[in-house]
Amino acid sequence: MIPLISVKRLSKRFPGVRALHEIQFELMAGEVHTVMGENGAGKSTLMKILAGVYTRDSGEILYDGQPVDFSSPREAQAMGVCIIHQELQLMNHLSVAQNMFIGREPRGRLGLFLDEDKLNAQAREILARMHVNLDPRAIVGTLTVASQQMVEIAKALSFDSRVLIMDEPTSALNDAEIAELFRIIRELKSRGVGIIYISHKMDELKQISDRVTVLRDGEYVATVTARDTRVEAIIGMMVGRALTDAAPSRSVAGTGEVALEVKNLNAGPLVRDVSFALRKGEILGFAGLMGAGRTEVARAVFGADPIESGEILVKGVKVTIRTPSDAVARGIGYLSEDRKRFGLATGMDVESNIVMSNLRKFLSLSVFLRRAQIRRTATHFISLLAIRTPSATQEVRLLSGGNQQKIVIAKWLERDCDVLFFDEPTRGIDVGAKSEIYKLLRSLADEGKAIVMISSELPEILRMSDRIVVMCEGRITGELSATEATQESIMQLATQRETLKAA
Ligand SMILES: Nc1ncnc2c1ncn2[C@@H]1O[C@H](COP(=O)(O)OP(=O)(O)OP(=O)(O)O)[C@@H](O)[C@H]1O
Ligand SMILES: [Mg+2]
Repeated sequence: MIPLISVKRLSKRFPGVRALHEIQFELMAGEVHTVMGENGAGKSTLMKILAGVYTRDSGEILYDGQPVDFSSPREAQAMGVCIIHQELQLMNHLSVAQNMFIGREPRGRLGLFLDEDKLNAQAREILARMHVNLDPRAIVGTLTVASQQMVEIAKALSFDSRVLIMDEPTSALNDAEIAELFRIIRELKSRGVGIIYISHKMDELKQISDRVTVLRDGEYVATVTARDTRVEAIIGMMVGRALTDAAPSRSVAGTGEVALEVKNLNAGPLVRDVSFALRKGEILGFAGLMGAGRTEVARAVFGADPIESGEILVKGVKVTIRTPSDAVARGIGYLSEDRKRFGLATGMDVESNIVMSNLRKFLSLSVFLRRAQIRRTATHFISLLAIRTPSATQEVRLLSGGNQQKIVIAKWLERDCDVLFFDEPTRGIDVGAKSEIYKLLRSLADEGKAIVMISSELPEILRMSDRIVVMCEGRITGELSATEATQESIMQLATQRETLKAA
């Protein structure tokens, strides 16, 4: 059987970066082929070349055994190769249906007018097949990241593809949504569609892949069958060394003074009567299902959304926070889960992004000193977080997804806040860098900072938190100590509202 896609000695350079060097890769019909590698290894670049977004410098791509050279995504789509991008590429001001069928909208009888009803019906059909409960007329900019991700997937499914590339499709999805996506993938597979799958979630590997290809530093390492290979072996190939994965030691929680206290906070339907206290030196985990209200609590405390009632106390003193700059002035920082909308100025360079939230510190210096100081700060964080960039003046949008996430972290570390809300801090971050970030969070806590970590990954919450608050439908449904918490006890609290209502 000839492969659906076969890549030979493919290379690609960007200014200052050797993104891919003599890569080989092969995809069979009906196969799920996972591509793994650290942040910046070259995964997305390879996918963009296959999908006609970038052109290769050298090498060969065979499609059905024939050499091809897609000069645009449209051309690739027409040939049946479709990609779901890592960074969502939706039009925020258009509806779900309009996004799905952009450029291919059904026309009325004379071909002049857009047939809205037909458009919405077509979109509804695909969404229903995915078991996704979304209104085709909803404006995409108002949706959560998870829903936007579903729209991106629905859009890709609306093309009858033979090759479907999924670049980190699950990074913003919850377990139920991931299960649904996997059901769709299996269905496509049984119809002979070839799927290239990228993810940093190691547990997905065993669930969904047939084969795995590992890239490292833009080079091909190996292709193995998923069933016969241990996850540790794959990690070893990715990072080229054995990972020490000892959990960072916990601080003795609850001994520090209270850094932040929130009392009876109300802010919209997802923040109802929320109270909690956060101590210096502590990592407080916020667990719950998507849409439980964890992000909304952080945003309300940070002044990003208006508060209806309730009190916020910083070191025992009642404060009024109306805007994010009020919050920052009080020493409160918030790393958004949605880095594209709130976290980064992607058109600006690495160093500007890192110092951005702390401009006052740099403005007090003379021009020359400022330059040198900014460069020194940027260089420090680039090496501390192992940010893969050709220089401190590279535009952030040109970095890989995981490296952009590291810039968000650097930016808030530089601001040096006493209280930090980390919202899904390791989304899109590779396994090796993840444990580095865990160590970093722990050392921040050890330095006396007070940290809230919002995460949808239960193992991460369990591993990092000194204490865990669980939310459900806008309310705190319980609190667990690190020693008593288990995945089961968290899930019970995360779904508790139903039983409470029934009682
Ligand atoms: N358009 C571009 N211009 C310049 N450099 C780029 C561009 N796109 C990617 N790069 C660089 O190429 C390298 C590979 O990036 P790529 O996005 O393929 O990594 P990745 O494996 O997908 O990583 P991640 O897991 O973080 O998504 C990185 O060093 C990145 O900075
Ligand atoms: Mg990528």
